[in-house]
Amino acid sequence: MLTIALSKGKLIESALDLFRRAGYNVAGLSGESRRLVFACPEIGVTFLIVRPSDVPTYVEYGGADAGIVGKDVLMEQDSDVYEPLDLGFGACRISVAALKGEGLRDRLSSKIRIATKYPKITERFFNERGIPVEIIKLYGSIELAPVVGLADRIVDLVETGSTLKAHDLVEVEVIAQSTARFIVNRASLRLKHEPLMELIRRLRAALEPRASTLGNGRPSTARRGKKKAARA
Ligand code: PRP
Repeated sequence: MLTIALSKGKLIESALDLFRRAGYNVAGLSGESRRLVFACPEIGVTFLIVRPSDVPTYVEYGGADAGIVGKDVLMEQDSDVYEPLDLGFGACRISVAALKGEGLRDRLSSKIRIATKYPKITERFFNERGIPVEIIKLYGSIELAPVVGLADRIVDLVETGSTLKAHDLVEVEVIAQSTARFIVNRASLRLKHEPLMELIRRLRAALEPRASTLGNGRPSTARRGKKKAARA
C-alpha cells in the first residue's frame, strides 16, 4: 500500500484528473469533503489531503510515501525529497510586485519592507542582489499589505494577474516559475521501489506533452546528500 499526500486547494482537481488519466479509480475522493484520509484498496493507495505547505513534511518524514505539491512550496522549504516528475499543471510564478507608480524614494536610507508567505525565497533573492530587506511574514491575502502601507513590496504567486490588478499592483520582477511536482520519500523509493516506479511510469505516461521528466530522481535541492533518516 502506498500513501500519497495531495495538496488541498488549487491543485487537487488537476491531481485527481491525472490519477484518473493514469487509470487509477479515485471515485469518491474529493477536495471538498471534510475527510482527510481516503483509502482506495483496489488501487493500493491511501490518499491524505493536507495543506500544501505540509505536503513536503509528510513526504520527507515518511508520513506519506509520495505527494503532489507546487514547486513554490518546495523552493521555500528546501525539503530533502526526490522530485521525479514535473506535472505541468498549477503553473504560476513567484514575483515581486508593488503599487503602480510607487517608487522607493522615501525609504532609500532604510530597508525595503516586503510582505510575503515566502520568507526564505524572498531573503535569498534580495541577499543575492545585496539589497537589504525587512521581511514581514503573512499567511495569505498578501496583496493587501502595500494597499494599507504595511509593506513597500510583496513577493507572492501570480497566476492570471487578476489579484494584482484588482489591488492596483504591478509585477516588478519574476523570481521563479512554479508548477506542481510529484515528490517521493527517499527511503520509500528503496523499500517500495516497484509500486512507486510503476506509479511514476503511469503518471508520466498520462502527463500532457508540455510536462517533463526532471533529472533522474535525485533530491530536488541543495540539501541533496544530507543524511537525514526518513521514516518510511
Ligand atoms: C494566490 C496568490 C495570489 C493569487 C494569484 O492566492 O497568493 O493571491 O492566488 O492568482 P491570480 O494571479 O490568478 O490572481 P490564494 O488564492 O491561494 O489565496 P491566499 O491569498 O490566501 O494565499
